[in-house]
Amino acid sequence: MSYTNKVIHSGYFNDTLRQWQCQNTQITSLNLMYPIFILDEKDVREEIKSMPGIYRQGLNHIKAMLDPVVESGLKSILIFGVINKLSKDQYGTHADSFENPVIQALPLLKEWYPNLVIACDVCLCPYSSDGHCGIIENKQIDNVKSIKRIGEIALSYALAALVSADIVAPSCMMDGHVTAIKQSLMKENLLSRVSVLSYSAKFCSVFYGPFRDAANCAPSFSNRSSYQIPVGSSSIAERVVDRDISESCDMTMVKPGMMYLDVVRKVKDKHPNIPIFIYQVSGEYAMLYHAAQAGVIQLKEGLIEILRSMRRAGGDVIVTYYTPEILKWLKDVLIL
Ligand code: PBG
Repeated sequence: MSYTNKVIHSGYFNDTLRQWQCQNTQITSLNLMYPIFILDEKDVREEIKSMPGIYRQGLNHIKAMLDPVVESGLKSILIFGVINKLSKDQYGTHADSFENPVIQALPLLKEWYPNLVIACDVCLCPYSSDGHCGIIENKQIDNVKSIKRIGEIALSYALAALVSADIVAPSCMMDGHVTAIKQSLMKENLLSRVSVLSYSAKFCSVFYGPFRDAANCAPSFSNRSSYQIPVGSSSIAERVVDRDISESCDMTMVKPGMMYLDVVRKVKDKHPNIPIFIYQVSGEYAMLYHAAQAGVIQLKEGLIEILRSMRRAGGDVIVTYYTPEILKWLKDVLIL
């Protein structure tokens, strides 16, 4: 048989050889961010029905929950406040009041875990009476009022942590939110201490369903299609990412994950130097959970395949509710 240069291996039979072919798609603790829900009732801890295994909990339970995860190498968290007891109103007053669970948790988290990167979700929907992500006037989003308020809330999270919340992450999809936040950070001379992770390409997805149970934030009328990206449009997503980058966001995000990896790849090709986050959202979590429960796939193998695909598409950090499990697997093998 003569040699031909058309022989290309498609399979490798040794772990190291396989890993060499997968550079930049490996998963380490640096590629994971863990979303957590903090309740305004300090002693309460409740499982989210539509997300089995995920809890929302008051401040008195947070340390016990996070200690083992930090111990297994957790590098960053994304915090959502959830209010059951506090009241909701048009302006989301409790998004940044003293009683807000995120504001109360931040200094403690910084004290317990000085090296943990803390990102705070910034949005109105968990706190507004209508459950929308901005301020509603006459049944419509008022953009100017919304971004002004989003800037205020972001600033209060940045200031609450004393040492500083490391990242504020607007998920509201209000045009101009990055500029509004940067301006309010600038007023307090915090620009060089707090990064902005913009949920830039956030699609109007049904896969947020379980999250809305978790954060108690379903819209009371209409839906979010007037400010979230239509599922079929990649061009709006690309333009919105460009806009956020031109407004100097420090990191950008595509959300949900698995169905939008084409968008991730396009963004990565165009902006190779800005970190891209992918949010594996609540519905993706639940779908995998139930598929594994039904014995249709093995959770570990299925999840690793998805995470690898996200890395292959160009995602740098994956926000996933599965972070604690993945970190445990990483302990065994060091690199996945
Ligand atoms: C709030 C927000 C949502 C998610 C993160 N921030 C829900 C939404 O826009 O309806 C979804 C996260 C998830 O589904 O896991 N603006």
